[in-house]
Amino acid sequence: MAHDLFEAARDAMKFAHAPYSKFPVGAAIRADDGRIYTGANIENLSFPQGWCAEPTAIGCMIMGGGKKIIEMAVIAEKLALCPPCGGCRQKISEFASADTKIFLCDEVGVQKTMTMDELLPLSFKTDILG
Ligand code: THU
Repeated sequence: MAHDLFEAARDAMKFAHAPYSKFPVGAAIRADDGRIYTGANIENLSFPQGWCAEPTAIGCMIMGGGKKIIEMAVIAEKLALCPPCGGCRQKISEFASADTKIFLCDEVGVQKTMTMDELLPLSFKTDILG
């Protein structure tokens, strides 16, 4: 079942705009509406203005009408396992649950499955902000 997400992330990675790092990354989200939303990293000549594959996929999900991440796959061309960076973990957690599965992939498929809680333990939570 996760294999379709892997394939979607791998296909999305082809759209990476990574002329500076030459480090293409792809991400795919299965959302609560049953659809798959994908993203790639998009870099910028002004380096800090670039962003990761995961927020591209999250933006696609939100604009496509998806509300929740059911599961997600991440792949990088040049890294056997590409765990989402710290900032991405926070962004993913906004739309995930503690047990949401994140599939870390290589070029042949899913190599490691982690939950959101494993990726971002003791995450920022408060009732004060609603
Ligand atoms: N990158 C991602 O797309 N996702 C991550 O979780 C880690 C890093 C991208 C950002 C940049 O374009 C390139 O990988 C090198 O850091």
